[in-house]
Amino acid sequence: MNTTKKISSSSPIGVFDSGLGGLSIWKEINQLLPNESTIYLADSKNAPYGEKSRQAIIDFSIKNTEYLLSKGCKIIVVACNTATTNAIKVLRANYNIPFIGIEPAIKPAALQSKTNRIGVLATKGTLSSELFIATSEQFRNSKNIFEVEGAGLVALIEAGKIEATKPLLKKYLQPLINQDVDHIVMGCSHFPFLIPIIKSIVPAHIQIIDSGEAVAKQTKNILEQHHLLNTTNTGNHVFYTNGNLPLLQSFLKQIEIQTESVFFEEF
Ligand code: DGL
Repeated sequence: MNTTKKISSSSPIGVFDSGLGGLSIWKEINQLLPNESTIYLADSKNAPYGEKSRQAIIDFSIKNTEYLLSKGCKIIVVACNTATTNAIKVLRANYNIPFIGIEPAIKPAALQSKTNRIGVLATKGTLSSELFIATSEQFRNSKNIFEVEGAGLVALIEAGKIEATKPLLKKYLQPLINQDVDHIVMGCSHFPFLIPIIKSIVPAHIQIIDSGEAVAKQTKNILEQHHLLNTTNTGNHVFYTNGNLPLLQSFLKQIEIQTESVFFEEF
């Protein structure tokens, strides 16, 4: 498979997700790397990935990658746990460009936990993936890891119904509270948008962990290693959705991004 444009340090970073969730990752990347230009792809038409087959998730990930490569991206951030855990191996095997993935942050939660009991809230696609199972196995000897599938949450977020997630969140979080976890891992990039509601449900001592900052740091490291870090320009940002354009605009407002470059496109 081909990369069509020549890349350099001034080429953009490509970021994709099944929809709007990856904006939580984009925000961290932009904060750490303000010189970098970015192209964000919200594949909202096909969300939620987490309830699709592994092959469908791989096919969506290839389609998104091809699109970002056609725009000349120098690196691709798979800002979706479900796509990372199911498809990143295939992407890395097929494209000659660095990929950064996002996985549930079990390791930091496990290292910090005092009760040795941590919870993971993720999609069915992530929890059932080989990569997630292998990663969590590394900690199961010494830690109790309790998994909860956040069924229905991504669809509500993609519909802009953040408040409507509360009853579902109460149902999903109660078993984790009952298990005396002291950390809950946001195993889906959509879920950081729910943190204020989650904090209103769980006791204050429970830490909520997400992977955004770690992904931004890893992006920086890999760009440095490939001599692709942009140290001179001011970032220029473009956002595409194949779903609801006004909703993408309202999420961008929420993360305090002011840009005219927000487009609907079929991809
Ligand atoms: N943001 C995606 C993730 O991190 C959501 C998955 C989905 O579309 O179900 O897993």
